[in-house]
Amino acid sequence: MPSRKRISVKLARYGVAAAFFLGIVTSVAQIFQDLSNEADKLDSNIGSVLEMARPPAIAAAGSLDDTQAAQIINGLMTYDFVVEAQIVSDLGEVLASRTMSRRNRSTPGIARFISGDDTRHVIPLIDAAGNNTNYGQMIVIIDPSLAFSGFFERSGFIIIAGILRNFLLAFVFFGVFHWLVAKPLIRLNASIAGIDPRNPEGHRIRTDSQHADDEFGNLVENINDFIAATDEHLTERSRAEMALQTLNEELENRVAERTAALESAQKELVAKERLATLGQLTATVSHELRNPLGAMRISTHVLRTRMDTEDDLQVRAVERVERGIKRCDNIIDELLDYSRIKDLDRTVVSIDEWLAALLDEQDLPGGIVLERDLALPNTSVPIDPERLRRAVINVFENACQAMTNNAKTETGDTQSRLRIATRATDDRIEIVIADTGPGIPDEVMAQIFEPLFSTKNFGIGLGLPTAKHIVEQHGGNIEVETEEGRGTSFVLWLPRGDQEALGSFLVVPTVLFK
Ligand SMILES: Nc1ncnc2c1ncn2[C@@H]1O[C@H](COP(=O)(O)OP(=O)(O)OP(=O)(O)O)[C@@H](O)[C@H]1O
Ligand SMILES: [Mg+2]
Repeated sequence: MPSRKRISVKLARYGVAAAFFLGIVTSVAQIFQDLSNEADKLDSNIGSVLEMARPPAIAAAGSLDDTQAAQIINGLMTYDFVVEAQIVSDLGEVLASRTMSRRNRSTPGIARFISGDDTRHVIPLIDAAGNNTNYGQMIVIIDPSLAFSGFFERSGFIIIAGILRNFLLAFVFFGVFHWLVAKPLIRLNASIAGIDPRNPEGHRIRTDSQHADDEFGNLVENINDFIAATDEHLTERSRAEMALQTLNEELENRVAERTAALESAQKELVAKERLATLGQLTATVSHELRNPLGAMRISTHVLRTRMDTEDDLQVRAVERVERGIKRCDNIIDELLDYSRIKDLDRTVVSIDEWLAALLDEQDLPGGIVLERDLALPNTSVPIDPERLRRAVINVFENACQAMTNNAKTETGDTQSRLRIATRATDDRIEIVIADTGPGIPDEVMAQIFEPLFSTKNFGIGLGLPTAKHIVEQHGGNIEVETEEGRGTSFVLWLPRGDQEALGSFLVVPTVLFK
């Protein structure tokens, strides 16, 4: 704050001006009062002086004694306010006269202005004790400014002293005001400015002990009450904001959860619908195709019995037709598998036993070593064995195909290994099918579960979508880890023992059913 705007500085400024003004006004008033007293005194002085001089003047005029008259005039001239005196006989003869030289009348103009011009007093010299004889007159001229000269000298002092006195008073008041009001106000202000209004955090204002019980003390007390209330209010507000934020987050999470659930339900619905349509179409088309395919199979059989077995050309042609028919059958099987949406027909089986039997049935292409790592001998799971079999075989076949086309991996490991394992976590039963094939590039990986996506010459692209569909029907899913040049690992997991998991899937120890 600029110092000229401070209350104490303003007070000093106004105080000095008021002191000056009041000093002059009171002094001038006092002077005028004194002046009027002085004028009264002068009038009575002049009256008594003239009254005193009158009898001897009557005597001097009566006897025409100019010596006595001169003595009287000299006596009158001793008064500093008498500037001229004269005794004149009744015949007009001047018996004595004297005038003060102008040099001795050097009074200031202001004095002359205030006290007025010379006054002329003509006193008739009548002998009242005799027979009222008029012996002449005494003329006295008086300059009141001379009479007041001492007074005017005093007046200057009075004015200066008055101003000085008021100045002094103003400064005393300024000092007292500064000490009593301005200083505590400045401290109070600094103390308030030091508090962060958004976060008072228990800060309070302190006041000097000498102001504890006065208005400042009250003010500080009230401000502290106000700060405490604000503090409390802010704390409550931040608590409420935090609670609101938590609620908001919870709400957002719930919305996100519900949205995800809705999205997946919708996806499932759409998929189911698509599958249902595809299923109908596939069933119709398959049925229509199976009849001519059956006729073709019978016809090739007839051809085989009648043809010339020595003729290589005929034999290869019939074999090509037979392979074509088989392939068509496979496609129809896969299509039917993929589009079938009928409910699972669950049976509780020992997972390891079931898997071991399945593996025993498989023909491994040459050069591939099968490693079994079945670690759940006592675990039984309720599965649809036929459907899950299809899923495992699809993944199994992919692994074999990947290694058949890529007999030598970048690790330099010439031996192709297919590892089949079972394992369990807290909430899952997992079937691992890991190969040492070429791995799956990123761009292929993004599409492997899309129906009809295949990178193979004779692939249909329904193996993995079918497997995923079946495992999902069991409440589980398929996870893939792959490293290009090193191999791929598919994990088919099923939920373990959680009644609420999709499909109310139960894991039951085999012993219970024995
Ligand atoms: N173990 C694997 N290693 C490398 N690539 C794989 C493996 N498994 C699947 N793939 C890739 O995923 C694609 C899709 O597999 P999917 O089984 O769905 O179809 P497919 O094998 O091509 O044809 P089919 O319908 O006859 O099974 C394959 O074409 C292949 O490129
Ligand atoms: Mg396949």
